[in-house]
Amino acid sequence: MKIRRAAGDDAGGINAVYNPFILDSPATFETEPISEAGRRDWLDRLSRDPRHPVFVAEGEGGEICGFANAAPFDPRPAYCTSVKTSVFIAPNCVDQGVGRRLYRALFEALAGADVHRAYALVVTPNPASAALHKAFGFTHISTLDEVGRKFGRYHSVMWFEKRF
Ligand SMILES: CC(C)(COP(=O)(O)OP(=O)(O)OC[C@H]1O[C@@H](n2cnc3c(N)ncnc32)[C@H](O)[C@@H]1OP(=O)(O)O)[C@@H](O)C(=O)NCCC(=O)NCCS
Repeated sequence: MKIRRAAGDDAGGINAVYNPFILDSPATFETEPISEAGRRDWLDRLSRDPRHPVFVAEGEGGEICGFANAAPFDPRPAYCTSVKTSVFIAPNCVDQGVGRRLYRALFEALAGADVHRAYALVVTPNPASAALHKAFGFTHISTLDEVGRKFGRYHSVMWFEKRF
């Protein structure tokens, strides 16, 4: 498994990991699959700011097994030193240390950027994600009760914060 920076051509591979979660899981509050063009735009936008790196985990056959990224916390300029981080691993690749390796690469990159706070929103329950975030220095600061509705059910979201 190779961990490397994402390129524009990874749009399809990232979507192959993420879109099934959109369709089948409350882990993301997106509800419509992302097109390849939409994912390319996303990669292009994030690539303009060193605070917003994207890393992928690539298997031996070149398939994308997971990705991690930082993105703007909020588009308003005074929020620019805060980012939201995210990590998604394909079901056949979980529990093999891939999330940990992706987050290690991500936070090494962020250490050299002008980032003061990172936030992660974790839909409950998600013990694996909570453990991963705590391992990388995040603290659980709050839970937003039933803040989202997906598949006809309300879901609560844990806010995690990491200070740099
Ligand atoms: C959450 C997720 C990113 C973790 O990635 P992963 O590659 O499976 O995790 P890793 O194998 O790197 O393990 C990371 C840590 O979490 C711990 N962990 C894994 N599963 C766990 C579980 N069910 N309960 C508690 N801890 C768990 C591991 O022990 C490990 O800690 P350690 O290195 O100290 O032992 C991955 O499972 C995933 O993508 N899940 C579905 C999508 C999702 O929920 N994404 C997060 C959205 S916020």
